[in-house]
Amino acid sequence: QNNDERFRPGFHFSPPSHWLNDPNGLVFYEGSYHLFYQYHPYSNKWGPMHWGHAVSKDLVHWKHMPIALFPDEHGAIFSGCCVVDWNNSSGLFEGSHGLIALFTHADTCPESGQPRQRQSLAYSRDAGHTWHKYEGNPVLAEDELLDFRDPKVFWHPQSENWIMVIVAGDHTRFYRSKNLREWSLTGEFGKGEGSHDGVWECPDLFELPIDETGRSKWVLIISIGDNPNCPEGSRTQYFIGEFDGNTFINDNPADHIMWLDYGRDNYAGVSWSDIPEQDGRRVIIGWMSNWKYANETPTGSWRGAMTLPRALSLTNRNGGVILTQMPVREIEQLRKESMSWNDVAVTPETPFMQKMNEDLLEIEADIDVRSGEEVHIGLKSSGQSEIVIGYDPEHQWLFIDRSKSGVTDFHPSFATKHGAGMVAVNGKIKLHIWLDRNAVEVYADNGLVVLTDQIFPDAPIEEVGISTQSGQVVLDSLQIYTLKSIHI
Ligand code: FRU
Repeated sequence: QNNDERFRPGFHFSPPSHWLNDPNGLVFYEGSYHLFYQYHPYSNKWGPMHWGHAVSKDLVHWKHMPIALFPDEHGAIFSGCCVVDWNNSSGLFEGSHGLIALFTHADTCPESGQPRQRQSLAYSRDAGHTWHKYEGNPVLAEDELLDFRDPKVFWHPQSENWIMVIVAGDHTRFYRSKNLREWSLTGEFGKGEGSHDGVWECPDLFELPIDETGRSKWVLIISIGDNPNCPEGSRTQYFIGEFDGNTFINDNPADHIMWLDYGRDNYAGVSWSDIPEQDGRRVIIGWMSNWKYANETPTGSWRGAMTLPRALSLTNRNGGVILTQMPVREIEQLRKESMSWNDVAVTPETPFMQKMNEDLLEIEADIDVRSGEEVHIGLKSSGQSEIVIGYDPEHQWLFIDRSKSGVTDFHPSFATKHGAGMVAVNGKIKLHIWLDRNAVEVYADNGLVVLTDQIFPDAPIEEVGISTQSGQVVLDSLQIYTLKSIHI
């Protein structure tokens, strides 16, 4: 098999062909989840951007749709959002409702010769099948801003306004509108706050309840672009605080940084709009790549995929509020066979080893590491590849080592071992792992710490091994599921 189909994910969204980056226009409408995405339909590298389109009833199985938005006289179609205009605030739906997309038009300013980014609107009267660009485009321009992009819009009932959160290089701005067409600036946030390792991109802002407290907080998500001096490349941070209708107020000190994901491949993630209140979930999906090497990954006719969709929650930890995330429960329908073990002692002489005849896996492991011994979960191919997910109790560190994961030589920053601080609770760790043909996602402690990484094994993974170097750990419980592919 050529690399094209060998690395085609079995249960992550990937484009039919050619280049994909950010998720765009995530909206639930008339029974379907829409996923638009940054798409270059003529090449497997980034280029003049279009919006690709797919729809799903369950966030797991996707149907590819025709390209939704093409570049036009105002430029390429960069990232943006969709909302349902339920009450025809835009006046574009003649007594009914429909979908509005707000996105960045990117071109070159004829006077200055500089890149120019302005915000535009498109609408669909047939549930996202066909799109019309608004005649008055662009609807929002700020001539002095070189970086000004990725609008995310939501209805704010408290102030009876549509709110747009949008990034401007080193900060995010807030605009409001009654009709989704005319926007006025209400505030800005971010200079000197959080990480500025790269340009700010792809913001999102929403309110979430804090587990079992009856209270809630606002979450501001900001992706930060690649910086040649940072080995991590592009990644996503978040802030917790309040939104007063005009601006965001950070609960934490300005130098406090929180990361959404400690793997290398989760970027530009934003959440679905208009998920019904009865459902109540806030679901996010990210682009599963990194600007550091996104254009070099070893697939051919297609390139780029999304993370699993994840439901977000807030929880209290050490006096602060933090985000947790787990794949949406709909993923469970992919489970096929199940195997389980309890109370297995793992020592250097008696490693755990299970051969698999399938390479799409879900693994749940509760491990007792009170001995202080480092434990490795090794996912091995029939060839030379091994992906190691490890926990080092001494340094309280959870990591992925993909240095021997297969094809790694396409970029010097790829073959790394990286991870996150994580405390074992009562000497135990709880890991939930999804393994696909191009990626591994690790959720620790019910989604408190998450690592998402692309991998390109030299042959299908066919063995799960759990091992230690010198002492013993105990597998309190271990469950392995084989998973169905979403391509039938
Ligand atoms: C983030 C990003 C956005 C931009 C888009 C262009 O990955 O750089 O800021 O709108 O990609 O494709």
